[in-house]
Amino acid sequence: MNYVTIALGKGRLVEETLSILEEAGIVFPDFSKKSRKLIFENKRQQLRMVLVKASDVPTYVERGAADLGVVGKDTLLESQAKVYEVVDLGFGICKFAVAGLNASYQNKAKPIIATKYPNVAKAYFQEKGQSIETIKLNGSVELAPLIGLSDCIVDIVETGKTLKENGLQVYEEISYVSARLIANRASFKTKFTQIGELINSIQEVVDQRGERS
Ligand code: PRP
Repeated sequence: MNYVTIALGKGRLVEETLSILEEAGIVFPDFSKKSRKLIFENKRQQLRMVLVKASDVPTYVERGAADLGVVGKDTLLESQAKVYEVVDLGFGICKFAVAGLNASYQNKAKPIIATKYPNVAKAYFQEKGQSIETIKLNGSVELAPLIGLSDCIVDIVETGKTLKENGLQVYEEISYVSARLIANRASFKTKFTQIGELINSIQEVVDQRGERS
């Protein structure tokens, strides 16, 4: 039997993902939060977990270095990776939104939009027939309109606290975001039995959690 490799992104989704995997009977005994190790094994179940930068998860899965991955829909959309999206894990829920100090960006012919997600921003405004210019930032995007770098931002909003504390507000909601289980297209066929079982047991846990809440 071949190993199945699952890629998890370091950061906000890890803990909940490991908790779902554990409930599905998938554990990595040598994993510890403090460890600097990047590969963990479950020999009995022939599973391997790799910890990578969250934005790299789609790349590992698309190229088949990992068979499965857990990633936010935001990162997945932005990556444009060709993978199968197999389970909505139902946590890490937030939304994509256009936010700013005011609505004046709506009156500009080509507003400047600061974002960690230029592909998502371009696709959204293209759909609306609106030209934009994007400025790619890697974090603290809310700062951009405050100091005149951009007219508004496209970002994920979870609690809304960051926007509120910086005097910004949502002007347009773009789409729903949550953590997703993704699969490599070829692995999905070649390792169908193993991967199918994993997907089913993870889906069951997610469904049970949904019923409980
Ligand atoms: C994300 C996002 C917002 C914030 C939204 O940033 O880009 O800044 O979280 O969350 P809230 O609505 O609950 O305030 P993240 O924490 O990942 O940090 P970053 O700005 O460094 O990317």
